[in-house]
Amino acid sequence: MPQHVHGVVARAKGEPVRVETVVVPDPGPGEAVVRVQACGVCHTDLHYREGGINDDFPFLLGHEAAGVVEQVGPDVTDVALGDFVILNWRAVCGRCRACRRGRPQYCFDTRNARQRMTLIDGTELSPALGIGAFAEKTLVAAGQCTKVDPAASPAAAGLLGCGVMAGIGAAINTGGVGRGDTVAVIGCGGVGDAAVVGARLAGAAKLIAVDIDDRKLATARSLGATHTVNSGTTDPVEAVRDLTGGFGADVVIEAVGRPETYRQAFYARDLAGTVVLVGVPTPEMRLELPLLDVFGRGGALKSSWYGDCLPSRDFPMLIDLHLQGRLDLDAFVSETIALDEVEDAFARMHKGDVLRSVVIL
Ligand code: APR
Ligand code: ZN
Ligand code: ZN
Repeated sequence: MPQHVHGVVARAKGEPVRVETVVVPDPGPGEAVVRVQACGVCHTDLHYREGGINDDFPFLLGHEAAGVVEQVGPDVTDVALGDFVILNWRAVCGRCRACRRGRPQYCFDTRNARQRMTLIDGTELSPALGIGAFAEKTLVAAGQCTKVDPAASPAAAGLLGCGVMAGIGAAINTGGVGRGDTVAVIGCGGVGDAAVVGARLAGAAKLIAVDIDDRKLATARSLGATHTVNSGTTDPVEAVRDLTGGFGADVVIEAVGRPETYRQAFYARDLAGTVVLVGVPTPEMRLELPLLDVFGRGGALKSSWYGDCLPSRDFPMLIDLHLQGRLDLDAFVSETIALDEVEDAFARMHKGDVLRSVVIL
């Protein structure tokens, strides 16, 4: 029997989101229904409602979630009723050219539920990132459910489903930060702070946080940054070089998504160092760099999409580290809110007042 639940829906570009009745079908082959326990508010949800992702309104928002598997489709074997799971937007296919080459984190054919959730009048909803978890229940592909240790709190665990994984993965997967490396992170919001935490976990010796907001720098320091630079008042390239014996950092992670901060990242890294772009630029942005510097400075210029994560590998491992007290995910939960407070949370996120607001269901 299809179920009726409450969900946060964006009906039209720029219109405030509203809680509406959502119809969740029974899971078909390869699908699962998850009872959502917590779902973080991410910039991408706001981008959807602003029409910045695509025009497939109405959207069912929410995609940083954890919950419990409630129903599975007939052929589903890898998750079972009652499993505590983090939802992912990288359910790999196992068959595309990336998967076949043993690089499933670059899968070109990731899976979502085949059926659509709808409004009560039958209008099909587009779930954000194929998840749609600002709802008491959501329908996903079974592969989007990654089982983790149920001892973790849903609010903390859910954050690994998107932004925090993106930041940690930018450091440990894409940047390959290792013991003794010097690392700089430019932009210390939720994603940049997660990069700080990831770099610390990987053994960074010197960890320099760069932001234009002193409040953000204070948080980054509390999460493990060893040095902070306010790039609104100090040249960050000079500052990072000064802090690294005049050379620059081994790995610089750009978590803003702007040409000027990318340029800072490019010049704040050591020769043969690595730049990781995890901030998401907008389509009109352009980058100009002397090609001779790109060539002459060597190293690697990489981008990090979802932290190059493989959910089945990374989520359980990071939850285990969290439960050992080595990864403070709770620090990212600035506030917990109800389903009807998402619109207000967008405003606080926009003002930079929170790392993450998390809807508790
Ligand atoms: N230089 C340094 N820091 C900056 C600058 C700048 N020119 N402009 C903004 N910042 C800082 C802000 O002060 C804030 O701390 O960057 C941080 C951005 O953080 P959030 O707005 O909280 O965004 P976050 O969720 O961390 O995402 C960062 O990654 O996933 C993408 O779409 C996301 O592009 C965004 C980026
Ligand atoms: Zn694939
Ligand atoms: Zn997100």
